[in-house]
Amino acid sequence: MNLLARINPLDILLGPFSQDIAIDLGTANTLVWVRGRGLVIEEPSVVAIDKLSRRIIAVGAEAKRMVGRTPADIVAVRPLRDGVISDFAVTEKMLQYFIRIAINSPFLARPRVVIGVPSGVTDVERRAVHDAALNAGARACYLIEEPMAAAIGGGLPVSEPTGSMVIDIGGGTTEVAVISMGKIVASTSIPVAGDEMDRDIMAYMRQVHNLLIGESAAEEVKIRVGSAMVMEELSVTVRGRDLATGLPKEVTVSSVEIREALSRSIHAIVDAARRTIEVTPPELVADIMTRGIMLAGGGALLRSLDRRLAQETRFPVYVAEDPIRCVVRGCAAAMEEVSVLARLQAVNSRRPPRQVS
Ligand SMILES: Nc1ncnc2c1ncn2[C@@H]1O[C@H](COP(=O)(O)OP(=O)(O)OP(=O)(O)O)[C@@H](O)[C@H]1O
Ligand SMILES: [Mg+2]
Repeated sequence: MNLLARINPLDILLGPFSQDIAIDLGTANTLVWVRGRGLVIEEPSVVAIDKLSRRIIAVGAEAKRMVGRTPADIVAVRPLRDGVISDFAVTEKMLQYFIRIAINSPFLARPRVVIGVPSGVTDVERRAVHDAALNAGARACYLIEEPMAAAIGGGLPVSEPTGSMVIDIGGGTTEVAVISMGKIVASTSIPVAGDEMDRDIMAYMRQVHNLLIGESAAEEVKIRVGSAMVMEELSVTVRGRDLATGLPKEVTVSSVEIREALSRSIHAIVDAARRTIEVTPPELVADIMTRGIMLAGGGALLRSLDRRLAQETRFPVYVAEDPIRCVVRGCAAAMEEVSVLARLQAVNSRRPPRQVS
């Protein structure tokens, strides 16, 4: 590819004044990193919209607080669901909003943008994210698959001829990938991650305790007492609505119950890890045996999930330092390397086959 042929003379003039940015466009959280300034935005991927005018009322944490609490003419939506873009127009608006806030400059600044996208997005969606970034003022946009970004951000030696394995457990998807020499060699993506765990808890409370609870309450229960293995057990009081009477009710649940509620999702994550290992070449398996599997994403913080995965896969497993920010750090690191950017463009057009289930 002749990169020089792609250079716009205006970019050479404006380049030094622009702030290149890296974005982890996650289904649960969007993180934005600006070269020279570091992490500037870390907000839930939620947008509150006026249904009639389609005007944006709020984005991020402010919009997340509105979920389930909006009047009839306002909706709080999560435009990315289960690792795919479910509402493109809103995703574009959200991206534009974050890019503009991140640039925050009165000068004509046209940043280059590196965006981490779920590896389950289709080519049409990749094009859409790319175009949205250009519409928001970017002069170039490079897309990087989340597990690759997570591996780079977690400090794995992705370009060396050695096997690195990462499991990124986000809100919408769990992505398992084995990487060697800068390429994803084997990968599996499942739509089971933090959001599904929240739904498990909502279903459990409904079925076992006759209690209707919202998504945020379920997430709080998961974070406070959720676990993947037997431990010093905890309990938490949950507020919701009694399904029989329709009245408010409080129920105290234990970590034992929540572990049972989460068991199906945990099993699906373990199974995705095992299936990826099964199709990994033996030499790389030996490397991973030595160096271990790295867990990234917010879901990696679930208590004892690392121990459970180690027990079930028989590989050493560890949680990355700062797992929620691995992807954005990886995107930022990719941004620093023109050679990586050039390769990303090639990857964008020719991606390896992937198991999706
Ligand atoms: N301490 C914790 N224990 C368990 N889960 C947690 C914890 N902290 C955050 N999470 C969960 O992590 C998920 C969000 O993780 P993350 O920000 O990595 O997702 P994302 O990158 O937006 O999603 P995706 O990668 O699927 O697009 C949420 O489901 C959240 O509830
Ligand atoms: Mg993610």
